[in-house]
Amino acid sequence: MATTVIGVRQERPARFLASTNGKKAIMAVTGVILFVFVIGHMLGNLQVYEGPEKINAYGHFLKSIPELLWGVRAALLAAVLLHIWSSIGLALRNNAARPKGYARKKNVVSSYASRTMYWSGPILFCFIVYHLLHFTAGIVHPGSDFKEGDIYHNMVASFSVWYVSAWYIFSMILLGLHVGHGASSFVQSLGFNHPRHTPIIKRAAAVFSCLLILGFISIPISVLAGLVK
Ligand code: HEM
Repeated sequence: MATTVIGVRQERPARFLASTNGKKAIMAVTGVILFVFVIGHMLGNLQVYEGPEKINAYGHFLKSIPELLWGVRAALLAAVLLHIWSSIGLALRNNAARPKGYARKKNVVSSYASRTMYWSGPILFCFIVYHLLHFTAGIVHPGSDFKEGDIYHNMVASFSVWYVSAWYIFSMILLGLHVGHGASSFVQSLGFNHPRHTPIIKRAAAVFSCLLILGFISIPISVLAGLVK
């Protein structure tokens, strides 16, 4: 009897995670973790406007506590992998459940941003891989040599190359769409739906994602315009 009770208790979380609601909850929780990181990263990057000393010291500070750095890296990696795993699970389920011949009707009710979620996600994944090779590892670094620890130099040198800036600007716009839609569907996934509050939260998500895009893309634009050099 006791074994059965323990068995049931152990089975519940696994069954919940495998369910549609469980996957939606994982998407939402990991999405919030990544959202908080992206906001912090954008605000940190804006220190480029205060000159090389400031942003380089900030980068140095972030790396000065290895336990913290690797803890955050591990948490981000786990969040990205779980986010992708649950999105694939949900996409496969949606596809299997979709009645044939209703594709047109579905498109009318789903927003442009929600339809872009499944292709903006993979592009953003490619962006992150490129971005780590670019600014963290310095393996792909058009413009000039990568200088370890000299974030200011690395940003100015690579954003002076128009196609690097264009790729970042394009990816940041996709990120804004992805985060904006993700934040508003988060409300529904966790069951916080409210006739008065939901539209306000959705509008706040749209404003936030616009600010996120503007904060990030202002950097390559400022470098191309010669304001940061
Ligand atoms: C204009 C946009 C962006 C700029 C200029 C930028 C800049 C940078 C720089 C300079 C670094 C290296 C920091 C260092 O070596 O100390 C970095 C690292 C990183 N960035 Fe970005 N970033 C941008 C957008 C993004 C976005 C949208 C994401 C995520 C979706 C992201 C995720 C990361 C991650 C995960 C790291 C590695 C942190 C680590 O060392 O563990 N970045 N970024």
